[in-house]
Amino acid sequence: MMAPASKKTMCLATTAALGLVCCVFAFLLYFEPPSPVCPSTLTNVKDYEDVVPNEKPIVLLWFWPLGVKFDFKACLTYFNIDSCVLTDDRTLYSQAKGVIFYHKNIGGDLKNMPQEPRPAFQKWIWYHVESPTNTGRIPGLENLFNLTLSYRRDADITARNELTIRKTDVKEDFVLPKKDKLVCWIVSNKNPATGTAVRESYYKELSKHIKIELFGTAYTGHRLSYEEYYSTIASCKFYLSFENSLHRDYITEKVNGPLVAGTVPVVLGPPRENYEEFLPSDAFIHINDFPDAKSLAKFLLDMTDAAYTRYFEWRKFYEATPHLLSIYNEFIQPICLACDHMSRDVYYHVDHDLYKWYLT
Ligand SMILES: *[C@@H]1O[C@H](CO)[C@@H](O)[C@H](O)[C@H]1NC(C)=O
Repeated sequence: MMAPASKKTMCLATTAALGLVCCVFAFLLYFEPPSPVCPSTLTNVKDYEDVVPNEKPIVLLWFWPLGVKFDFKACLTYFNIDSCVLTDDRTLYSQAKGVIFYHKNIGGDLKNMPQEPRPAFQKWIWYHVESPTNTGRIPGLENLFNLTLSYRRDADITARNELTIRKTDVKEDFVLPKKDKLVCWIVSNKNPATGTAVRESYYKELSKHIKIELFGTAYTGHRLSYEEYYSTIASCKFYLSFENSLHRDYITEKVNGPLVAGTVPVVLGPPRENYEEFLPSDAFIHINDFPDAKSLAKFLLDMTDAAYTRYFEWRKFYEATPHLLSIYNEFIQPICLACDHMSRDVYYHVDHDLYKWYLT
């Protein structure tokens, strides 16, 4: 039972809260036809929202990234995002609140960009997922965009695989998958032009001291199917999460895979401090924790079961979400996040000097 005094306080608080809601609504409605009555209860507020005509902003995907198409309904299915109208219909250009441009699709002469003037309310979104090493510098993009969409934490819209905080009521115990391999690496690219030389030479040195099971087209010529991806990683004690090039925040699905599968990632990429901005410090092993590959190999070979188990402690508190596999799926999440962002975006914004931000 609530004491009368506190009931009164509650009442006041509720009134204040409703007053605030009312004010916010009054503000939001400033540019709308005036509302006849100020909604007086939360239920009414909700009802009111329900009768407002569909005001979802249009977000136009100017190019299908690398020509890969997907069903925009995926935003609702996978990410519960339904707050904009995503379209690839360029005739809606003049109405679109946001237009997404996938960097790799932009022609060097910009001829495949919109040629009509940009409406004053419209934002152009620069969408790019490759690391700076693998970024072609197209001239003329410097002062063209309003928002950046990338894995970088300081992008206007950040798209990455992030751990989430576990709900406290979920108490299922983690069962370590059966391991029949020590160290594994799935690698499809060893083209040195993409920056892979660092990981290549580290792998070569490491493989002199410990057995590494290889998968993927780069060494075996055999493509690992998507169905085999998580189970293969799960069957290994350690997984080499070696990025193709080393850049701040460039920590990719190569780390998310083992975290999801129940395997310890051995990371090569930006410094440990950068990883620790995204992951608990005891969720991974960083190659820089060791003076050389030989001592890393010894560490992995000598690890006791008790020490190994400690790399899974973080699972009591956090959760890794499987990333959508295949090129077909990898573009979905960022585009959905852009959609969600545009439904909330009200600010004027220009990204000056895109390359200075991204490449330095
Ligand atoms: C978007 O950026 C362009 C310049 O790149 C600028 O002219 C335009 O006013 C900006 N629009 C908004 C809505 O921020």
